[in-house]
Amino acid sequence: MTWIDLGDPLPKCQPDLYEPVEWDLGEIRPLPAAMEVLDPTFGEILNSRMSQRRFGRVDKYQLGRFLWHACRTRGVGASELGFDLEHRASPSAGAIHPIHVGMRWPGDDRWWLYRPRTHELAEIRRASDELSGLYEHSQEVLRADDAIRILFLAEPGKTLGKYHDGCSLIWRDAGSLLAVMAFTATALGLNFCPLGITGEPWASNLGDQGKLVGVGLALIGSPPGA
Ligand SMILES: Cc1cc2nc3c(=O)[nH]c(=O)nc-3n(C[C@H](O)[C@H](O)[C@H](O)COP(=O)(O)O)c2cc1C
Repeated sequence: MTWIDLGDPLPKCQPDLYEPVEWDLGEIRPLPAAMEVLDPTFGEILNSRMSQRRFGRVDKYQLGRFLWHACRTRGVGASELGFDLEHRASPSAGAIHPIHVGMRWPGDDRWWLYRPRTHELAEIRRASDELSGLYEHSQEVLRADDAIRILFLAEPGKTLGKYHDGCSLIWRDAGSLLAVMAFTATALGLNFCPLGITGEPWASNLGDQGKLVGVGLALIGSPPGA
């Protein structure tokens, strides 16, 4: 067995100041807010969540509800790290939230960045070229023409500014987010499936600053025929 030891994270006595990635963004698409209380009880969600591998298309209202509940920023706090700390539905080591959520709609080869503070999508310029190989790769893993592809894009420098040996925290943050997304999709009657591929070697080309790395993908859609 080869086990890659990622070390044991320890907060630094004096955190490093980190300069977050600068995104080159184009069109902005605001998403509808979702103030509703979700219908199924949490027990029902825990009992019914399953990975689904067939997908119909979702509209922007369904996607907006999903992202609102699973990913939006509910509160911010100041820090000495060079960026704010945040509260979201998913737990995150140090409240740092180093995982960005990218996505690609069916029938549109652009990729979009979800902005959790403003609840909107922003087009990531040049991503359609940089991630075209990733799209093909994900289709080979699980063919799903009508699903939205979700890319977990980590910015490890955020977490590593605060922790020595913090790489495992990034993977655990990605797992937390994946679980929150899976439960949220179930609550909303949407189909969801994680993908084991990381998004590499394509994802780390994004932004051209060496600050991003792919840490997973997932597919989301409506139940086909719904
Ligand atoms: C990290 C992770 C990676 C996964 N990768 C894939 C995948 O590449 N393809 C796939 O069809 N399912 C994938 N799955 C889904 C699992 O196969 C699924 O969770 C498992 O079969 C249990 O089924 P359930 O989710 O319906 O309970 C993945 C799940 C996790 C947590």
